[in-house]
Amino acid sequence: MRDESIRSLLRSDREFLRIDAAGMSFDFSRQRLDSPVLESLVALAEQTGVRQSIDAMFAGTRVNSTEGRAALHVALRGRPSDSFTVDGEDVSDAVENVVGRMEEFADRVRSGAHRGATGERITDVVNIGIGGSDLGPAMAYQALRAYRDPNITCHFVSNVDPADIIEVLSRVTPEKTLFIIASKTFTTAETMINAEHARTWIVDHLGDGAVGAHFAAVSTAEQFADDFGIERQNIFGFWDWVGGRYSLTSAVGLSTMLAIGPLRFRELLDGARAMDIHFRDTALADNAPVLMGLCAVWNRSFLQMSTSAVLPYSRDLARLPAYLQQLTMESNGKSVRIDGSPVTYDTGAIYWGEPGTNGQHSFFQLLHQGTDEVCSDIILAARPTSSDRQSGGQIDDQHDVLVAHALAQASVLSVGLTREEVAATGVSEDLVPHKVMPGNRPVSVIMMDQLTPLSLGALLAAYEHSVFVQASVWQINPFDQWGVELGKKVASGIVDDIHQRQVDDPELDPATRASLAALLVRRDQPRS
Ligand code: F6P
Repeated sequence: MRDESIRSLLRSDREFLRIDAAGMSFDFSRQRLDSPVLESLVALAEQTGVRQSIDAMFAGTRVNSTEGRAALHVALRGRPSDSFTVDGEDVSDAVENVVGRMEEFADRVRSGAHRGATGERITDVVNIGIGGSDLGPAMAYQALRAYRDPNITCHFVSNVDPADIIEVLSRVTPEKTLFIIASKTFTTAETMINAEHARTWIVDHLGDGAVGAHFAAVSTAEQFADDFGIERQNIFGFWDWVGGRYSLTSAVGLSTMLAIGPLRFRELLDGARAMDIHFRDTALADNAPVLMGLCAVWNRSFLQMSTSAVLPYSRDLARLPAYLQQLTMESNGKSVRIDGSPVTYDTGAIYWGEPGTNGQHSFFQLLHQGTDEVCSDIILAARPTSSDRQSGGQIDDQHDVLVAHALAQASVLSVGLTREEVAATGVSEDLVPHKVMPGNRPVSVIMMDQLTPLSLGALLAAYEHSVFVQASVWQINPFDQWGVELGKKVASGIVDDIHQRQVDDPELDPATRASLAALLVRRDQPRS
């Protein structure tokens, strides 16, 4: 396929590369592959046991073998009749119970039945969490802007950099603010430090007794949340079989539910469920997440593309690339197979991106004419979230321009413009090479009708399952993240060193010791 171009492939009928699933369409016809390659990739999926892996995941088997856990996020959006089990135990009732409690709580906050300690209505919700306990909720809050209750504003604090919480606290008033401490483990340093900061702020303004009315928690470690002082009825649990980056559809989505309401949140779950069912029940060759995953494997391991751009033509999906960075890179940034042997092929690509059309005026130049070939996902909605077409209005006209740009970029990236075509435009000879567009950059076009909770749920589930398919083919575990642990441990040692002004910690390498000494010297100098 190295000598094959997407331009020439597009001359043949590529209908077989378009798949409709859960109300969305996935168009892989601009991928650099033909039907024999696709058949080989599907055969590869069969040989590497993708079907069995899917079945094992849905059956609640401990597919996360290095942590001895199941990965049953699909149960979070199941209906009670779906029956998901872990170790023979049906988890559906437990899931439904938490969703029900979340709904009750959300209704009370949204209706004003739950008030702050001084009797004020809650107008601001601050979600304190990081990684999977932040990126999903923050992304969904922005994505579902049009569905939010105007009386509730959500804020997201994740960074241990004090600037993060200071800035948010400067925008809210204690009497009207509810904090959600979201942490699967309830031990993550950044989250616990910010949670303490928030609690001190509430206690300073409203007294010790106010903590109950102003804090809720989302965690698998309910006892730790209780120890923190959060009232039992405001603690929403989930389970070790939900990975942090797969947790938006668990209680981690509480801020989303508070913002858009329980019914809309159920639609998000329903969208994800529709994609789950498609993924579970559809033959590999007709399965959207499977083909997404196989295209990713093809581009990464065979065509050697090391990065993959996520280009939502939607300002509301601005945080989607950051969300997908954790989902894809924390999952598939692995170089050892499940059996412990090193891989002999490239695995997880680097994901990055920005919404279109903004990206077109910054990094697209490199996508079009740079020396690196980058594959992309272009994501768009056929209709704007709010429409004024009836009145022949501005919103629809602007949306027309937006989608036109999305399709134009998909075309230019994949088809390009040849030397002959450039010359035919009458451009001067010396400019011709500068205007040639190599094309041949693989693009998947993912289209939804409209950005709604339902379509967002389906989109996110498609990416989750694509990541799983890639991992299954590569034979790696997408559900652990040992690589991020060491940094946490080293940082905690350095915090102690800073407090004790110890610059000769034998646990540290010489360069870090020198940097630490330099940092302490700077701190000793008077502020300029
Ligand atoms: O960064 C590592 C990580 O463990 C992520 O996988 C996780 O989403 C994040 O930290 C936050 O963890 P927790 O929800 O336990 O605070």
